[in-house]
Amino acid sequence: MKLLVCGGAGFIGSNFVRQRVVEHGDAVIVLDKLTYAGREENLADLRGEPGFEFIRAGIEDAAAVGGAMAGVDAVVNFAAETHVDRSIAEPDAFITTHALGTFVLLEAARTRGVRYVQVSTDEVYGSIEEGSFTESSPLQPSSPYSATKAGADLLVASYRHTFGTETVICRGSNNYGPFQYPEKLIPLMVLNALHGDKLPVYGDGMQVRNWIYVEDFARAIGHVLDHGEPGNVYNAGGPDECANLEVVQRIVQLTGCGDELIEYVTDRPGHDRRYSLSSEKVRALGWEPRMRFGDGLANTVAWYRENAAWWEPIRSGDYRAYYERQYGRALGD
Ligand code: NAD
Ligand code: TYD
Repeated sequence: MKLLVCGGAGFIGSNFVRQRVVEHGDAVIVLDKLTYAGREENLADLRGEPGFEFIRAGIEDAAAVGGAMAGVDAVVNFAAETHVDRSIAEPDAFITTHALGTFVLLEAARTRGVRYVQVSTDEVYGSIEEGSFTESSPLQPSSPYSATKAGADLLVASYRHTFGTETVICRGSNNYGPFQYPEKLIPLMVLNALHGDKLPVYGDGMQVRNWIYVEDFARAIGHVLDHGEPGNVYNAGGPDECANLEVVQRIVQLTGCGDELIEYVTDRPGHDRRYSLSSEKVRALGWEPRMRFGDGLANTVAWYRENAAWWEPIRSGDYRAYYERQYGRALGD
């Protein structure tokens, strides 16, 4: 299969591209804007693979998208701004990429008759106290991140309904694993713990997330690409739920740092209490998650320990200014 993968230089996208090239033998064109979160190094091992190509461009760039989509069988769209805290501080790029960018991609897919997979998130459903969201749960997003992701999902559904474009949507729960930018809970806590920096827990730390190992979510997206029914949404949630404080305590144990590093900080505005996804529909297509949270977290800590060359340029660059704005203290203080 020949694929166009947008946002393929990010965390989940790069894991997905690796699976498709190595395990499926697909020819893959990655189109990525390389924002602060996208890095060509994430795909370094795939350079030179037959059919692998990289284009630096935004999904809102109609000319670049049109050229990249020529001759492909399907497009998979990962390209997004993905951090809730940044969407609260500075929502502008979320609107452009999720609304305009998704529109440009859909138009290109519609006019060329290309199958379209939209990668989305459980956050579009909002927070749930008990039970799990299904694909027919109402969309009640809380943050500018999730609201603009929900808007993109609705636009995708409208292209199916109005134009008959072959679209599918795959919504994942919180991912973790190698290559995740250290603004997100798990890599941030792992790197801070390894450096003896404070571990900033928002509010009471009792918010619950439904953790999925990145390779499991990448395989779910591949399953939906290969077997999903056009016009459908598929949820892919991880096998385990865990409160933030317990996640941090596990990281304290795995890294061997002291738990006096844990520091309760001001809560995130509008913070969603719990996410939980039912994945029955994608399981019926033959997918299931393979990695339990305990093993996946140990793998992840080991990966960050062994890959300082990956995170050192991030942690010594613009990230320091982001960290100071977000946490009101310099990294290392
Ligand atoms: P990420 O932030 O690691 O990577 C995003 C990638 O998109 C980067 O390579 C970036 O350069 C690229 N990008 C951003 N704006 C772009 C634009 N306008 N044009 C082209 N490329 C652009 O994100 P991630 O965690 O890998 O998430 C990928 C997708 O999965 C997103 O759509 C996200 O909403 C969804 N998702 C993420 C999670 C999670 O826990 N991380 C869970 C469920 C769904
Ligand atoms: P995050 O990784 O930002 O993912 P999301 O907000 O999309 O679920 O955060 C996961 C949880 O961890 C969320 O409840 C917020 C919390 N959190 C902290 O307590 N401290 C932090 O420094 C970060 C980044 C997140």
